[in-house]
Formats: sequence, structure tokens, C-alpha cells
Amino acid sequence: MIETRLRIEPIQGCGALVKDVDLARLGDAEVGDLRQALFDHGLLVFREQSLTPEQHIALAERIAPIDVNRFFPAAPGYPVIAKVEKTAQQTTNIGGGWHTDHSYDAEPAMGSVLVARDLPPAGGDTLFADLYAAYDTLDAETKAEIAGLRAVHGSDHVFGEKGAYAQTDQPELAKGGVETPETVHPVVITHPGSGKSVLYVNPSFTLRFEGRTREESLPLLMKLYAHAIDQSRVSTLVWAPGTVAIWDNRCTWHFARNDYHGHYRLMHRITLAGCALEAA
Ligand code: SIN
Repeated sequence: MIETRLRIEPIQGCGALVKDVDLARLGDAEVGDLRQALFDHGLLVFREQSLTPEQHIALAERIAPIDVNRFFPAAPGYPVIAKVEKTAQQTTNIGGGWHTDHSYDAEPAMGSVLVARDLPPAGGDTLFADLYAAYDTLDAETKAEIAGLRAVHGSDHVFGEKGAYAQTDQPELAKGGVETPETVHPVVITHPGSGKSVLYVNPSFTLRFEGRTREESLPLLMKLYAHAIDQSRVSTLVWAPGTVAIWDNRCTWHFARNDYHGHYRLMHRITLAGCALEAA
């Protein structure tokens, strides 16, 4: 881990809290430190921020170019900000399963910047899992079993015309006419920012190992998934007005809890462009 000027307090399980920072007024050196801290910790949490949508966009652009999500509706007037919304009437939330954003892309989004806009009175927490730690703590036999494997990722079963969201009360996330090609990534990648090995499969978008059927792939995938969400490697982010989370999609998973029916929740998300992933 590299020296930083930021005041960073690791969070048990996954991520770190960054204190005494105004995300609207970062110096260039702080942005560099923030990017490095993101690669090292996977999740950075900031409290008591007051970012306007314009400042949210400016912050994202200082970290990396923006990679607009092609499935989520945009915040009115801000085409690069995805709306993560659940109304008091809806029962399905967005992101309510373990995943990492955009793993179905050939160049998956490197990160996401999520700003709390309207929160329910209780609940609506987001869980984060540390995939560096998941890889590091695999036993030697499993590490040998997955070394050199590649996995196929896709989005059609989630966001396609007949995908999971099409069957719910969030049908606007199911997009006909949007391209949803499958893509292949190594199962263990070298993180492009930290150089560390990471387990890179996830329950929502990984379909199978390359060269194997889904049925053949599932036993090992399930074993890896169960290992990744061991409580010792998971943290819970309890949102408050002003909370901003920035996570690295290559070394974390997240899961938005859906336990606030009858209440409104609105988050603004910007995804940050990444690169093709190399095998460890
Ligand atoms: C997401 O999956 O990006 C949304 C997370 C959240 O709403 O907490």
C-alpha cells in the first residue's frame, strides 16, 4: 500500500472511510491519492458531502472518463448520471443481488461513484465484499483449480427484453434493442491499479467458465461465491444524507438491500471507464 495524504480509516470487512475531505474541492494531489486509495481498499466512503449533480460529474471526470451505463434511466437533465431509484409503490430494487458493475463489458467499468439523494427512514444499506481478500484466502487447491481459467459474462438474462428486470415492476431496465454480447475475462485477474491478484467472477453476470456448460460450471462458481461473501470479508454501508461511496468494480462486489418497502430511495450513480483485464 502506498503512502497517502488522505485520512483513511479501514472499515472492518471491506473498504475504508475517508475523513476531512470535501469532494467538491479536491486538489490534484488528493485526486491522485484518492485513486490509489481506491485501488488499495476497493471501497471509499465519504460522509457529510454536499455534491450537486454538476460537482458529482466533475468529481467522476477527475478520477477517470465516464462510462455511461446503457441500461439505467438517466437522472433528468443529466444523461451521464444513472438513476438508481425505487418508489414507495415498487417492490423490486436495482442491484439487489451480489454483482460488480459492467463485468459484461469487454472493458468493464473501473469504478462507480454513488451519491445518496433520497433515503428511506431505515434500511436500504449496501453490502460490499472484498475480492482481493477472497482470492488471497482461497485454499491452494482451489487457487490451482482456477488458475488459467476464463469465464463468460453477460447481461441479457438481467437487462434483456426477456431478462430478470422485464418480469418485475422495474421493467424500464429491460432494454430491447440494446446490444448485450457475451464477453470473456480471466477468472483471476491482475488488478490494473494495484498489481494484486483478484477473483473476478460474480453471481449476477458470470454465466459459465469458457469451454464448459453452465451446469458444469455451477458447482465451482457456487463454491467461489460462498467463499467471497464470508462475513469476515463483507462490510455494510449504512447511508446517511451526504454520504458518497466510490468503489472499484475490479476488486469488490456490492449488494443493495431491499428492506424498505413503502418508502422512496434515490441514488445517483456515475460509472467510470476501465480497461481490458489481464490474467494474473
Ligand atoms: C448499484 O448496484 O450500483 C446500486 C447500489 C445501491 O443502490 O446501493
